[in-house]
Amino acid sequence: MKVSTLPQTQSRKPRVNQTVADLPPSGIRRFFDLVVSRQGVISLGVGEPDFVTPWHICEAGIHSLESGRTSYTSNSGLLALREEIAQYLEATTGNRYDPVKEILITVGASEAVDLIFRTLLEPGDEVIVIDPSFVAYPALVTLAGGIPVRIATRPEYGFAPRREDLDRAVSPRTRALMLNYPNNPTGAALSRDQIEEIADFVTRNDLILISDEIYLPLTYEGDPISFASLPAVRNHLVLLHGFSKAWAMTGWRLGFAAGPPDLIAAMTKIHQYAIMCPPTMAQHAAVEALKNGHKEVESMRLEYDRRRRFISHHLNRMGLTCMIPQGAFYVFPSIQSTGLSSQEFAERLLDEYNVAVVPGTAFGECGEGYIRCSYATSLDALREALRRIEAFVTDHRSTTGETNPPPFREP
Ligand SMILES: Cc1ncc(COP(=O)(O)O)c(C=O)c1O
Repeated sequence: MKVSTLPQTQSRKPRVNQTVADLPPSGIRRFFDLVVSRQGVISLGVGEPDFVTPWHICEAGIHSLESGRTSYTSNSGLLALREEIAQYLEATTGNRYDPVKEILITVGASEAVDLIFRTLLEPGDEVIVIDPSFVAYPALVTLAGGIPVRIATRPEYGFAPRREDLDRAVSPRTRALMLNYPNNPTGAALSRDQIEEIADFVTRNDLILISDEIYLPLTYEGDPISFASLPAVRNHLVLLHGFSKAWAMTGWRLGFAAGPPDLIAAMTKIHQYAIMCPPTMAQHAAVEALKNGHKEVESMRLEYDRRRRFISHHLNRMGLTCMIPQGAFYVFPSIQSTGLSSQEFAERLLDEYNVAVVPGTAFGECGEGYIRCSYATSLDALREALRRIEAFVTDHRSTTGETNPPPFREP
């Protein structure tokens, strides 16, 4: 038998393709590898609810298993769930999406982010991404062959993209603008004026607006405003959403995309080959979440609201100035007064006081000088974490000669 081998002088290409090899690992995960090996850490690092999924939603998932619903659903997802989503979107945005042609159920909002980039991008196409932003966007643009073009957002203008920065970033290769409000990591939300300005930018430049609104039900000031409430942008808008955050369902892995039929059909094609359908029991649970889960979403939102006021009050008092978050469950204080870099701050806080936060740079270069603290943690844990952060900041103030803040008191 003839055995074929490569000639001695030739070696195969590396096993991992260059794009993947060059991709940096997620800054959040890297930091969490440090946390796992330690005892007694208070973590303000995780981006998921500390609540468990409301029991009646779990029961709906269990019931679907007990009833033998253990097969695939349609590739687009259970029609009953798409119909519930259409009703939910109509109730929250005033606009109707067709459950057959305009909605696709995905494995978390994460899969929807991946699908839309793979649907839109040819090699070298550009996507405008705000900085700081959720870690997956630039990575998934790159994996789809595109180029993320980052624009800075800053606390002085509420971490919203400015029109002049958008105008400067757009080029003939730009295909899309990727936004996420309420925002991870800054907690910023957009006003109606800002939303209209962005919609105008997108339609004038004939771009696709990808709006990840997974945190929209967790809005604390005023009514949540979805881009889907603007009919003018409808044909340019791909809305991404999911059950992980507001319904405390991270482990169920369920999200959805709503948008123009041509884009949803193309996304469905990729999803069909790569995924088939999201877990069936999770889809049944999500029907229950949309039908009967509003009370629990509201009580979790009220609890986050208490914590957000508590944590931002204390961070500001101790000189780690921050914008009061308007949505999601993150606060993004400046740590510039300590003279430490984001990475140093996070590593030393963990080492010296056993509190985990995420360095702002995990979310992009503009995150330098900031840390992300999640308040999806009990008030007791937050109180203790804040005491430790204050002690840490005081240690560093005494070395820089700055005066210490007034003592810790409940607001
Ligand atoms: C802005 C944003 N979008 C999407 C996701 C992923 O959500 P899912 O669990 O639905 O995949 C996250 C998770 O942290 C997020 O913060």
